[in-house]
Amino acid sequence: MSTHSSRVVFVTGAGRGIGRAMADAHADAGAAVAYLDHDAALAEEAAAAATARGVKAVGLSADVSDYAAVEAAARAAEAALGPVQVLVNNAGISPKSGQDGRRAEAWEMDPAEWRRVIEVNLTGAFNCVRALSPGMKALGEGRIINIASVAGRTYCDIVGVHYAASKGALIGFTKHLAGELGPYGITVNAIAPGRIDTPMMRGTASGANEAVRLATPLRRLGRPEEVADTCLFLSSPASAFVTGQVIDVAGGWLLT
Ligand SMILES: NC(=O)c1ccc[n+]([C@@H]2O[C@H](COP(=O)([O-])OP(=O)(O)OC[C@H]3O[C@@H](n4cnc5c(N)ncnc54)[C@H](O)[C@@H]3O)[C@@H](O)[C@H]2O)c1
Repeated sequence: MSTHSSRVVFVTGAGRGIGRAMADAHADAGAAVAYLDHDAALAEEAAAAATARGVKAVGLSADVSDYAAVEAAARAAEAALGPVQVLVNNAGISPKSGQDGRRAEAWEMDPAEWRRVIEVNLTGAFNCVRALSPGMKALGEGRIINIASVAGRTYCDIVGVHYAASKGALIGFTKHLAGELGPYGITVNAIAPGRIDTPMMRGTASGANEAVRLATPLRRLGRPEEVADTCLFLSSPASAFVTGQVIDVAGGWLLT
């Protein structure tokens, strides 16, 4: 595999938060980057900032749960930047529609909210793999990095059951695809972040983040750039023989 400077990287949910940090880290390492977000203004702004730093970048607007839109975005990224070697499935939602910014519990959850979380967090990742893995197979190389969560592996009282289920499924998705795509030179790994300081996290009930901080062995929340560092490792030659793995970036929170 070549170094980051000759890579084309496609990051979903790249308009802000962890996705933006991962996309920027690759851009700053010399990769050409497709910034995809369903918020078109965020995607454009992020790509324009990278372009202003002298990086080849494109902003793409699509809802990852819509296969036709993802397919069109994938082809647009290839037309603008060339064949995509690295896909980062990051776009995700974690609705907190219960009282006072808390999660709705299963017994009160709107079934439409359940479906939406699965469609975005899980089907969105499938849609991107479906649209981009044939190109990686043709190249004979590729990296797929799925952003799961420690909440996909064990009980976490902040998130809803839809979120936990979608992230747990992403871990199974990662391991299965590592088996299917390994023979084509494509690695598939997941990152399980703990509590990372982003706009999504700030939407939770007051007091929740302080409780997580105290329960985290490193006694702090994480930064998006710290997730980006692990993502850079997983897209680099240093991880060439690593596949089917889940790497926690969580300060030791919710260790299992
Ligand atoms: N922040 C945390 O503490 C934390 C912890 C564990 C896992 N994660 C995961 O990391 C990922 C990023 O989280 P974040 O905290 O940066 O969130 P965020 O809400 O700050 O950013 C998410 C981005 O994804 C975009 N997005 C949402 N739905 C989309 C869709 N359907 N199609 C395309 N783009 C869409 C949003 O517009 C936004 O720019 C998510 O998958 C999240 O579940 C976050």
